[in-house]
Amino acid sequence: MTTSDGLTIRDAHPADWALIWPFWQRIVAAGDTYMWEPSIDEADARTSWMQPAPAVVFVAERADAERADNVVATAFLRPAQPGLGDHVANAAFMVDPDHGGGGIGRRLAEHVMAHARELGYTAMQFNAVVATNTRAVELWRSLGFSVLATVPSAFRHATLGQVGVHIMHREL
Ligand SMILES: CC(C)(COP(=O)(O)OP(=O)(O)OC[C@H]1O[C@@H](n2cnc3c(N)ncnc32)[C@H](O)[C@@H]1OP(=O)(O)O)[C@@H](O)C(=O)NCCC(=O)NCCS
Repeated sequence: MTTSDGLTIRDAHPADWALIWPFWQRIVAAGDTYMWEPSIDEADARTSWMQPAPAVVFVAERADAERADNVVATAFLRPAQPGLGDHVANAAFMVDPDHGGGGIGRRLAEHVMAHARELGYTAMQFNAVVATNTRAVELWRSLGFSVLATVPSAFRHATLGQVGVHIMHREL
């Protein structure tokens, strides 16, 4: 899907990892949004993100004067639970910080939610939204998610110490 602003969202190929890893590492190393160990190595990061089916991994590419393959964001979509819970989706999102705040996260989330509906998921659940991650929390709220519960002190934030983690949910 290519949108009017030149953003193309498509399923990721294995070769896309090389373009994802630099900003993936930067986001995780900051220690303020995701649970992964900030010093995670590339092989473990790749296994964590480039998951096999039934997961689907996406990338967003922005047309660029110098490069045709300018990956600026990624997401995955997968069942939140195995077996009898696999009608509820889970997803995760990363936008390259150099391209943040420009609407890419919203576009990607809308795309992933639509894809989840097409696959038959009936709801989407985020298991660990760091409560101080205002940008993400506000984006998910604006897309119809609500906070079901907040696990207190469940995330060791790099600069703020222990902070809460939201479980967020919406029907699809
Ligand atoms: C969270 C993230 C995916 C958002 O992507 P983005 O492209 O920066 O976000 P967008 O530009 O689409 O902004 C969408 C909404 O976020 C909110 N938002 C953006 N910047 C904000 C800010 N500084 N403060 C509060 N809310 C903000 C607004 O609701 C905005 O809505 P708008 O379209 O009405 O302006 C991205 O910042 C990111 O990858 N962060 C690091 C990893 C992460 O936190 N992932 C999510 C974990 S749950």
